Amino acid sequence: MILILLGPPGAGKGTQAHRIVESRGIPQLSTGDMLRAERDSGSPLGKKVKAIMDGGNLVSDEVIEKLLTARIKQPDCARGFILDGAVRTVGQAKMIDRVLKKQKRALDVVIELVVDEDELVNRLKRRVADTIASGKPVRPDDNEETFRKRQAVYRQETAPLIPFYQEQGKLRKVDGMASVAEVAAAIDAILDEFSAAKR
Ligand code: AP5
Repeated sequence: MILILLGPPGAGKGTQAHRIVESRGIPQLSTGDMLRAERDSGSPLGKKVKAIMDGGNLVSDEVIEKLLTARIKQPDCARGFILDGAVRTVGQAKMIDRVLKKQKRALDVVIELVVDEDELVNRLKRRVADTIASGKPVRPDDNEETFRKRQAVYRQETAPLIPFYQEQGKLRKVDGMASVAEVAAAIDAILDEFSAAKR
């Protein structure tokens, strides 16, 4: 099963991806996590992407291609994987299709978490409060100004993926405003349907 979780910042992609890792035993490929690891390591790539990420902008499609093509070749991706916020431009979507085609594989489904943007700011504030309470460092892009910028970048750069995947018949929408458990149940129903069809 190869799936994409699509949705604006704070929609719950990471929350649901962690659950799917547990329930389906396939890895989560989060380019956000990969880029943060690079940034925190101080590598040349990390230095290059720091200002872009901290400002709420997208890193280049070339960087994402390098990160994802290397990761998808790892043995743990053989049974499938979850692209968690890892496809954010039409260019990246086409790149993923090419990489998978070379491996004689294809994307199964794209699950869009549909959410109200103003509610997301409340979620962000809760995430920041939880992070501080746990003693962990707050993400530099998790402040209201940069978060609004990330939402605008989503609308402009990533939302065009919705009609792109709709035309391919791969898009499924889930109400991301429901509780974490309800969102999880809706995603499970979709994944069960695809698993049954593959058997
Ligand atoms: P990334 O780390 O992917 O961030 P994001 O897409 O902005 O998403 P978030 O992690 O903020 O939110 P989420 O949807 O995962 O929600 P979460 O589950 O945490 O990317 C960061 C940056 O890296 C980008 O801005 C860009 O610079 C760069 N980047 C990454 N990938 C790239 C790419 N492919 N191309 C170019 N650049 C790239 O939930 C949020 C909060 O809400 C949590 O506190 C959670 O507990 C809570 N919550 C979750 N679900 C619910 C629910 N149903 N009800 C109530 N609360 C909920």
